Amino acid sequence: MILFHVPGFRGNQTSLNPVGPGAEHIEFEFALIFWITVIVYCIVLIALVVYVVRRRHSLNIMPEPIRTTPESDRRARHAVGAAMVVTVLLVFTMLIGSFVSGHALGKMNRQSAYTIDVYGHQWWWEVHYPNDEPDKTVVTANEIHVPMGVPLRIHGTSRDVIHSFWAPNVQGKRDLMPGYDTDVMMQIDQPGRWRGQCAEYCGEQHAHMSFYMVAEPAQQFQQWLAQQAAASVSPSSPQVTRGQQVFLSHACVMCHTIRGTPAGSRVGPDLTHLASRSTIAAGVLPNTIGNLGGWILNAQSIKPGCRMPPNHMTGTELQDLLAYLETLK
Ligand code: CUA
Repeated sequence: MILFHVPGFRGNQTSLNPVGPGAEHIEFEFALIFWITVIVYCIVLIALVVYVVRRRHSLNIMPEPIRTTPESDRRARHAVGAAMVVTVLLVFTMLIGSFVSGHALGKMNRQSAYTIDVYGHQWWWEVHYPNDEPDKTVVTANEIHVPMGVPLRIHGTSRDVIHSFWAPNVQGKRDLMPGYDTDVMMQIDQPGRWRGQCAEYCGEQHAHMSFYMVAEPAQQFQQWLAQQAAASVSPSSPQVTRGQQVFLSHACVMCHTIRGTPAGSRVGPDLTHLASRSTIAAGVLPNTIGNLGGWILNAQSIKPGCRMPPNHMTGTELQDLLAYLETLK
């Protein structure tokens, strides 16, 4: 439904590159207003230039009093009247465009939608894929895999302060308020990783509160979901076994869950399939073994103010722990 694309950057975090009906309606509305205002601006500038060029000989001297004739009076009245009519028509065009877009956004199919729960935290995103069998509910963080071409119902709220869920390629932003549930419908029609960002100032690390929406064909999504629903793998080597013991005997268990082990706290992200995620710390760092090590030892130096405390352990303990975490695919 795009009239003419607005020129600009077409990356994976911009509303100028819509990948679903929600963002397409928004871009339609934006393009409509953008082109109308650009054309009006150009016409006004051209009229100004024509006036200046015509009067350039008389601009240096005191302006003469305006002399009107009945003929020039009539022409001026017609010109002003025509400009008013055009202005009203353009404003109504934008109003109707806005109404049509808003109506289309509200019409997305809720009945057949796939529901995903999103909870905003300072400063990360908790993501649940509800299932009728509670033990098959998938819990993950910051990477929201979704089936392509399927209406999605993102059901969201906040666990602390106000956040705003915004993936510009996909849909408009939606505030997540503590104690208040909200639903936003969206759909992604192109495969890819579409970056989102918290869009409501929520404290020191607001800028480091990003996420990815990963759109996949239905079959690939179901495979991902089944793999995420499984418990963590059991340690298969002495080092990995020691690493699991490090996890369970240090402060890690106070905040994190690894399904299939006694660790079951819900303060921080669920780590059952940590190694399957491409970033850590809500999109701040690529999920590499080095970054993970630095994050575990002193997250405060990477993301000051976040709730992950510094952890003291020996070099061997850290290596064993990292070896264990790397197995959590
Ligand atoms: Cu969460 Cu800004």
